[in-house]
Amino acid sequence: MLDVKDIRKDFPMYSLHNNEYEAKPLHYLDNAATSFKPSVVINKINEYYNNYSANTKRSDYSLAYKIDQEFEEARKIVASFINANIDEVAFTSGATMSLNEIAYSLLYELKEGDEIILSYNEHASNVLPWYNIAKMKRCKIVFAPSDKKGVITPNNLSKVITKITKVVSLASVTNVLGVRQPIKELVKITHNNNALFVCDGAQEAPHHKIDVKDTNVDFLALSSHKMVGPTGVGLLYVKKEVQNKIWPFIYGGEMNSRFDSSLSVSLKEFPFSFEAGTQNIAGILGFAEACKYLNNIGLEEIEKHEKSLKTYAIKQLKEMKNIILYNDFNDSGIITFNVKDIHAQDVATYLSSNNVFIRSGNHCAKLLPEVLNVNSTCRASLYLYNDYSDIDALVSSLKKSGDFLDVYF
Ligand code: ALA
Repeated sequence: MLDVKDIRKDFPMYSLHNNEYEAKPLHYLDNAATSFKPSVVINKINEYYNNYSANTKRSDYSLAYKIDQEFEEARKIVASFINANIDEVAFTSGATMSLNEIAYSLLYELKEGDEIILSYNEHASNVLPWYNIAKMKRCKIVFAPSDKKGVITPNNLSKVITKITKVVSLASVTNVLGVRQPIKELVKITHNNNALFVCDGAQEAPHHKIDVKDTNVDFLALSSHKMVGPTGVGLLYVKKEVQNKIWPFIYGGEMNSRFDSSLSVSLKEFPFSFEAGTQNIAGILGFAEACKYLNNIGLEEIEKHEKSLKTYAIKQLKEMKNIILYNDFNDSGIITFNVKDIHAQDVATYLSSNNVFIRSGNHCAKLLPEVLNVNSTCRASLYLYNDYSDIDALVSSLKKSGDFLDVYF
């Protein structure tokens, strides 16, 4: 187990909320939505604004040179976090923007009748950009079936992929059930059918080492804010070999090398062609700092820690007859459940009165109810700064809910 007491010292949210003056300690279990930020990340953001607040890629004075160096160093750190090359990663405002950019970047690659494969597990940001592109280009959306545990097995993908499939776009870890998909095998099948594989890595990156060279995905999207980095920053990975298939979605300064009045435009190479306008410079530096922070703790250690906490939680929740568990079989740090006959939002609101913060609802995965047969769930999601006391608070609050939720355990 990680030394949570020590780790919490890094996170100002804990010093503010979990101290001797607070009657109820904070039990934050909504890490799949967003994570807390350590001081090193916050300090890095402040350092930029306080010490070298100039724009990047444009100017020729020494301050601008300093920030250019910091910016490209950040790219190096973030690229190495997913084992990508530096010329394969562009910064975006988050996984949603990255996935939109990927879909739109393939506008000229897709044609009428082509198929795009998704799954019922996907978050809205890996569904709606594809719906939109499918409408514009008259492509067909096909859903890959999952097994009972929500896994898209290689066999299931093989059943739906055809010679007219152009794109397969799946989350490597799903955001409601925390299902880890067998990405490497799915990529092989996709490539054997001459299609492109897009990976939504937003829920995997904070907890598990992503290695784009090993999985061989063509595109990958992730968000900094779920991995102790700032909000408003994300990553778009595009494998070198497929960069000739994409076309930028957003146009503006610093992504072109020249344009003239005859409408002729020359674009810069990727990643610069996908970074139009002034970037979220402070956020990007903070994002790199977040990667360094996670590297120092170790993703393997973080994953092990979450698994231990989940096992501890599941054991107790299973003993409670009014709890329905939806993903006790997988080892991600996500626990998805319902209290029998009680709406998930009521459960979350009640838990909040005990300072236990979870998410409830459909979690933006609005197709999942079609296979899970339930519209709304409670989701407790773990991270490196959670400990047994958070689980105890969740379980004991549920046990004591008595009159409030009108159920008895
Ligand atoms: N995508 C985030 C979640 O699953 C917001 O909660």
